[in-house]
Amino acid sequence: MNISSLQHTFQANRPNSAAFFERAKHTISGGVNGNLRYFAPFPIIFEKADSACLIDIDGHRYVDYLLSYGALMLGHAHPEILAAAQRTWSEQGTSSFGATHPLELEMTDELLALYPSFDQVRFTNSGLEATLFALRLASAYTGKTHIAKFEGHYHGAHDHVLQSVNPVADRAGESSSPHAVPDSFGAPDYYRRHSIILPFNDWEACERILTEKAAVTSAVIMEPMLSGYIAADHSFMQNLRELTTQLGIVLIFDEVKTGFRIELGGAQAFYGIEPDLTALGKVVGGGFPIGVVGGKRRFMELSSPLRSDIRSEVVFHSGTFNGNPLSIAAGLATIRYLKQPGAFAEIVQNTNDLRKGIDALAKQYDLPFTTCGEGTIFNVLATEQPVRHYRDLRANHNQLRLALDFLLMENGVYSKPLNRFSLSAAHTKTEINATLDAFEKSFAALKQDPFV
Ligand SMILES: Cc1ncc(COP(=O)(O)O)c(C=O)c1O
Repeated sequence: MNISSLQHTFQANRPNSAAFFERAKHTISGGVNGNLRYFAPFPIIFEKADSACLIDIDGHRYVDYLLSYGALMLGHAHPEILAAAQRTWSEQGTSSFGATHPLELEMTDELLALYPSFDQVRFTNSGLEATLFALRLASAYTGKTHIAKFEGHYHGAHDHVLQSVNPVADRAGESSSPHAVPDSFGAPDYYRRHSIILPFNDWEACERILTEKAAVTSAVIMEPMLSGYIAADHSFMQNLRELTTQLGIVLIFDEVKTGFRIELGGAQAFYGIEPDLTALGKVVGGGFPIGVVGGKRRFMELSSPLRSDIRSEVVFHSGTFNGNPLSIAAGLATIRYLKQPGAFAEIVQNTNDLRKGIDALAKQYDLPFTTCGEGTIFNVLATEQPVRHYRDLRANHNQLRLALDFLLMENGVYSKPLNRFSLSAAHTKTEINATLDAFEKSFAALKQDPFV
């Protein structure tokens, strides 16, 4: 089999999605509201969701592992989230005050209890806005002009962090001294010139680069797990914490993917390390738009309007829907569900059972797939080499993984091609067994008619 034969089957089985996409692409740029949503020959058009499942406009049902890019930690329309959002809307009588309301402080208390690195927080509407604001705080605090970020790490769709997320190999330089390569046409060159790119999990190189560039580096921003599923060595994280403190560089953990997913307290709880600032998003909104910046008082308070009458001395932060009651109510319902004894551990257990099953099937069918991840997130890699650094992912046989994705979709499993897998409280043994069945059928098909 090859990708075109798989795409042919995909298309033949989804005439309604194909026809819809044909229409959509004329009036929505590329037919999608976000470039990452596209895949060839066309993305599936969904019309309904039900707990752990998605239903497309051709009537196919899939166990959903995309979960709105990991946001839906309790699955689609969990009854407690539905009730919280409906109750809040009817009791408070609005979807947005555009002003402070009591639920904001309830959420803040929950966050401060789960994330000991937080003294204060601010709410935003997305992860993008959270990383943007965290970087602005760092720049204000240090007065320095550059940021350091890791090759392969994603922090949302703003100019300064759209550097070397997915750099073309021939422009990316040596692995121990990566170059900044813009990920978007149109991002002003200023941002490339003010970006320092670090290799994830390579301590010797990071120590050298950061020491050399300390005078200009305001912040190191990082996904504490590369792409949400590749952990760094504990010693790497410990060294980074110590060196950034020593050099006066603000350490920002972008836990938009990993918050409430690696552990309830995020990857910072897993590593036992407190960053200076943290960006959260996804799960903390319970399926509604949100972002959070939390961290140490000395940074957070720079945005306080109580600080100074002189506007130029306050870090500006605002947003029409910041802290809107529906996102906060849904997020609070999610956190309270997950804090019940055993609730989070059960999702981790189901994730581990699924991973073990996939790994065993890959062995049984003698196919080079392995799972990699922590907590409730993992990915299926088409390589048997260990993956510790971003560039190790070059050994991943993307086309083979893509072939698996097309087969899985035909067998009722969706993570979006080449995407990681996230689990939720709605993924019970029934969904796990159905997914393993889909993997078995897909692996058997790959064995019978090998991928070329
Ligand atoms: C680590 C990380 N940071 C930031 C973002 C951006 O969040 P949003 O899509 O809510 O803007 C994402 C989104 O996937 C992310 O994974």
